[in-house]
Amino acid sequence: MSRATKVVLAYSGGVDTSVCIPYLKNEWGVKEVITLAADLGQGDELEGVRKKALDSGAVESLVIDVIEPLIKEYAFPAIQANALYENRYPLATALARPLIAKILVDAAEKYGADAIAHGCTGKGNDQVRFDVAIAALNPKIKILAPAREWGMSREETIAYGEKYGIPAPVKKSSPYSIDKNLLGMAIEAGELEDPWVEAPEEVYNMTKAIADTPNEPEYVEIGFEGGIPVSLNGEGMGGIELITKLNQIAGSHGVGRIDMIENRLVGIKSREIYESPAMWVLIQAHRDLESLTLTADVTRYKRGIEETYSQLVYNGLWFSPLKGALDAFIQQTQERVTGVVRVKLFKGSAMVVGRQSGNSLYSFDLATYGAEDEFDHKAAEGFIYVWGLPTRVWSEKLRGE
Ligand code: ARG
Repeated sequence: MSRATKVVLAYSGGVDTSVCIPYLKNEWGVKEVITLAADLGQGDELEGVRKKALDSGAVESLVIDVIEPLIKEYAFPAIQANALYENRYPLATALARPLIAKILVDAAEKYGADAIAHGCTGKGNDQVRFDVAIAALNPKIKILAPAREWGMSREETIAYGEKYGIPAPVKKSSPYSIDKNLLGMAIEAGELEDPWVEAPEEVYNMTKAIADTPNEPEYVEIGFEGGIPVSLNGEGMGGIELITKLNQIAGSHGVGRIDMIENRLVGIKSREIYESPAMWVLIQAHRDLESLTLTADVTRYKRGIEETYSQLVYNGLWFSPLKGALDAFIQQTQERVTGVVRVKLFKGSAMVVGRQSGNSLYSFDLATYGAEDEFDHKAAEGFIYVWGLPTRVWSEKLRGE
């Protein structure tokens, strides 16, 4: 029985997604497979990928450049939200998935496809992100995930592909599962599955080993307008250029490496290595500028929102009513987050060492211990009496006074 007639398949050019093409046609009775490869700044040569899909039996092979929307519509809001999953992971993979889902749905609608397919297995977060985002954008479209059902080992998958003219990978395939885009890199599997084993240097791609980083610190100045990074070292630039340059600069100082055990939505703990130099620095800098420009109560309240926001993004709920409501809150807070932050990059650390803003709420006259002090010291006494009153009453009661 045919599962669908015309399918748009999320395509990377790798073995799994290539095998999906003959598999969908021969096992699941699909008539036409249209592949879609997203250019997310991962640096792969996508013309070869486009051709490979056609050679593997696709009727149409789309390659769509979405680097600009990845930065503007996904990375910038995530920076404004200081989004770090479990306080560490800057969500590079998680942010790209709803964007890929969106262009898959657009293509399915344009080409009149009745289903969308992807190559995710049943153990990860990405299947959840794709399936839920697609359902949110067009609940009528069927979702097919061959690799979730086919039960083939790596060797069997390669053999299946060879039967249909898909060449086995030429180089000895890497033991790692890697996902990459301009925002960062995620590396898992292989020897990393032992949480005690240190990741070998060869897994890192965007960051230098500390032993190889410069012995002098480097300072970068990041300018923000309304919570969005707009300049680097005084030079105004668009998001793609800024993130590309900052990845390079911060990465050369070994900044942005993360080695963590994380909780997947599907209940599994996994060991992840991430590299996300620019996002890491931008979030540190942005959070610092908020401390300067937002009131104490907004800053603190927002920290709770950020935690929920990061979980929603990680858990595939980018297109959801709660996420929309949190976006509205975050946007409202960003209007005054304008200024410049100075970050010192040295031996793997990115430390904010200076910040300034026309909207700064820092008052020298109130903060100073010098002669210019304008703070009313006497007012502190009455404040402390009222502030401490409940504690005083409690203590008296306890002592039977
Ligand atoms: N654990 C990370 C996440 O859920 C990275 C996933 C990487 N995906 C991949 N297909 N290798 O966002």
